Formats: sequence, structure tokens, C-alpha cells
Amino acid sequence: MEENDREDEHCGDAVTTMTTVSRHCFGDDSEFPAFSISIIENMKEDYGLFVWPCSVVLAEYVWQHKHRFSGANVVELGAGTSLPGLVAAKLGARVTLTDDSTRLEVLDNMRRVCDLNKLECSVLGLTWGVWDSSIFSLQPTIILGADVFYDSNAFDDLFATVTFMLRNSPGSIFITSYHNRSGHHLIEFLMGKWGLKCLKLLDAFSFLPSYKASLLSGNIQLAEIDHISKENA
Ligand SMILES: C[S@@+](CC[C@H](N)C(=O)[O-])C[C@H]1O[C@@H](n2cnc3c(N)ncnc32)[C@H](O)[C@@H]1O
Repeated sequence: MEENDREDEHCGDAVTTMTTVSRHCFGDDSEFPAFSISIIENMKEDYGLFVWPCSVVLAEYVWQHKHRFSGANVVELGAGTSLPGLVAAKLGARVTLTDDSTRLEVLDNMRRVCDLNKLECSVLGLTWGVWDSSIFSLQPTIILGADVFYDSNAFDDLFATVTFMLRNSPGSIFITSYHNRSGHHLIEFLMGKWGLKCLKLLDAFSFLPSYKASLLSGNIQLAEIDHISKENA
């Protein structure tokens, strides 16, 4: 099936469930066999139960950088339906999928999606800017975040969490995809404020295969972000 193909799973009670399964394909590579990831979505929900375009972009980037993910320790922030994290798990990473700890239906859906794809990931409630004990034991080598820069009121909390993780796990990197809406300058400003620097900035359409690009619109960017070490500050 093509990217974003959807199968109706529950039609009986469309008003209360509106649940569909979309299938996302990764392939055309001699190094790794092609595979697909199935995602349970709920069209009734606004955020965490829908595969946002940034997630398709970040998942493709993970697939294309597969050598970095085999054996990596990955934490996905604001994972929602978790497509990038699941691709990382498929490539051999140890993955912790996280989302707002008050959004229990999103966390439950993550567990269902892991089961559906027969992937073993940890699922954790992690609210940005909140210091639950579990955050101190996470030692990611790669932090992922797709479409987590959408509400500027939450940017500082998100950067606080990202900065803590980058500093707590030397050598780690934050890879994020976001819509380049009006928030871009704020993101740049806050990176400076939190002592972070952008190592790489790509236009999503520069690396998406054409059959995926044709299904997406908007100005989506992907950034790799690190913290400025004391020596370079
Ligand atoms: C636009 S959705 C993106 C979901 C998914 N990454 C994707 O691209 O399909 C934003 C996600 O961030 C989560 N989120 C929002 N505020 C949060 C917070 N303060 N702490 C943790 N997660 C949060 C939402 O629950 C939602 O899953």
C-alpha cells in the first residue's frame, strides 16, 4: 500500500470512535529489507492521535539515517502516534516513547501501536518542563520530536526538557521536524537562550521521496540541535 493508506477499522460507532489504521512504508534500500509500520489514529482527536506531516518527515529521515539508529538509545518527545520512534525501533534502537503524562488515551494508544507492530518500546508520561524522577534515568543518544513546536507558549518548557536531556547525556542530539510558521525566529531566539545550536537545517522536501512529498504540503524543516559545550561557549 502507498504511504498514508487508511483502512477503516471501526465503522459501527463512527461518532464515538472514528478509528482508522494508516500504513507507512519504508523501503527501496539494499541495506535493510523494506517494512511498513501501522498506526492507529483517531480522527476525533486534535493532536496526539493523528499522524502529523512532520512525523512522516522525521520517520523518513530516521529511515534514511538508519546506521545512526541501530543500537541507539532513543527518546521521542510529544510522540503522539509515534511513527518516527517506531521506525527507530524497527531499525534496532532501544526506544522510549513519551507524551504529556495527563494524556492517558495517547499513552494507551502508543502501547496498542507497539503491540500492533510487534515492537517493544517503553511508554512513559513525560510532560515538558516537569521533572518527574523518570526523566533523570533517561540517557538518550538521540532525542526525536515531530511537530512539537506548534504552541509557542510551550516552547520554553520543551527547550528546558531538551536542554536537560542533552546535558545529562553527553554526545546526544535532538532531531526535530517542524512547520516553519511564524515561530521560526522564536525557536532561533530560544535556542540561544538555552545554550543550544543548530548543527543542520534541512527543507523536508529536499530528502523526501517524491511519492511521500506529493502527499504533504507546507514549509516543513528538519533541524539537528546540540548544546553549546562550555569550551565553545
Ligand atoms: C502536533 S502533535 C504531534 C504528534 C506527533 N509527534 C506527530 O507528529 O504526529 C503534538 C504532541 O505533543 C504532545 N504535547 C503537547 N504538549 C505537551 C507537553 N507539555 N508535554 C509533553 N507532550 C506534549 C501532544 O500530546 C501531542 O502528542
